[in-house]
Amino acid sequence: MSAESVIAKQQQLLLHRPLALHLPTRLGFGAGGLAACAEWFAARAARVVLVVTSPPLAPLCEPLAAALRDQGLKAHVWEGVTQEPRIAHLQAGMRAARDCGADAIAGIGGGSAMDVAKLIAALLDGRQRIGEVFGIGLLHGRALPLACLPTTAGTGSEVSPIAIMQDTTDGQKKAIISSHLVPDAAFVDPALTIGAPREVTAASGIDALTHCIEAYANRQAHPFTDVWALEGIRRIGRSLVQAFDHPDDLAARSDVALGSLYGGLCLGPVNTAAVHALAYPPGSDHGIAHGVSNAVILPHVLEFNRGAIETKMERLAAYCGIARGFDGFLAHVNALCDELKVPRSLPAFIDGLEMDEERRKLIAEMAIVDPTAGGNPVELTVDGALDILDRAMKGRG
Ligand SMILES: NC(=O)c1ccc[n+]([C@@H]2O[C@H](COP(=O)([O-])OP(=O)(O)OC[C@H]3O[C@@H](n4cnc5c(N)ncnc54)[C@H](O)[C@@H]3O)[C@@H](O)[C@H]2O)c1
Ligand SMILES: [Fe+2]
Repeated sequence: MSAESVIAKQQQLLLHRPLALHLPTRLGFGAGGLAACAEWFAARAARVVLVVTSPPLAPLCEPLAAALRDQGLKAHVWEGVTQEPRIAHLQAGMRAARDCGADAIAGIGGGSAMDVAKLIAALLDGRQRIGEVFGIGLLHGRALPLACLPTTAGTGSEVSPIAIMQDTTDGQKKAIISSHLVPDAAFVDPALTIGAPREVTAASGIDALTHCIEAYANRQAHPFTDVWALEGIRRIGRSLVQAFDHPDDLAARSDVALGSLYGGLCLGPVNTAAVHALAYPPGSDHGIAHGVSNAVILPHVLEFNRGAIETKMERLAAYCGIARGFDGFLAHVNALCDELKVPRSLPAFIDGLEMDEERRKLIAEMAIVDPTAGGNPVELTVDGALDILDRAMKGRG
């Protein structure tokens, strides 16, 4: 496609696809996130803040609770979230919020803790149950004010209208998507990610990269969000391995945190596509970290989409300073996953994994109706999904 026709297509998009952005009213990036968050709650006249988190984050919650108390507020830390949260976590968190009389919620942690915090804040008034709100736009409102502080980079949940929860009725991970889930405030302080274990840095970094790639290559892509997506891909691509190898390198952590924020900002207006649609079931079935299942699927979805995205990927590669267009970018993604020690195939991750015919078919059928599948630049059919799964079983590169 010539440069002129690319510009003409973008003009068409600007005219015909209105963009709707729902953002936190306060978005902080940089040092001092914990103190800024406490000041924000005080300015909102909160009295009792429930801090929702996971046990490894206790060292970060203590200073947050102290900062809240310094502002004259009560702070209760609830550490009940584990990885890949389920409805039971949400219910326990709601009890904790009621027990302490919380009138505001802070979520501090990775996507798991932030997603639970978002749903506690949304559902605490009891007007709706979690089972009623899986899907798009079914949440009627949010009961309490909410601030999020990411400690991974990351899911982008601190700015997204999404929460992901495993539905106990069928064991599957499902999304709740609603503008009411966009936190009122987000404080992205890259220093909070320094303690993240290496495998979490790798998995969450690939997740963030995938958000940016899937937003940029998306059927719903928009020139407004392309700017964020491109810059996110460039920053994560150049600094994720450094953050993985040298966890204390604040410059690398900041680059990846900013890239992750850009990816999160794309989730609302554009969202993801076939990688996410296909990565959820193996994540639910085998407890594979979300970013890792993305990484195993990503190269094969790029190949699947090649015909529709080749020109865009050439521009992306050029923007990131990568030679050889689409092929160069694909090689860059594969090399990145290798350096991050991400397994090359699904069976390499789960020893002896087998996926029987029936399960494969079911995963493919679930993927094509996932809310993210519609954004894929090439229509995701059952056969296409099966082909991608087969390739992910065999492995990349
Ligand atoms: N809401 C959204 O928009 C969105 C987007 C993508 C993914 N997700 C969901 O987010 C979840 C994954 O989130 P994640 O990748 O951030 O991982 P995570 O929240 O599951 O955290 C992984 C582990 O690392 C620990 N950890 C996190 N930060 C740490 C730190 N700084 N120091 C020490 N330990 C730390 C956590 O306690 C946990 O044990 C999945 O459930 C995924 O489906 C949500
Ligand atoms: Fe994701």
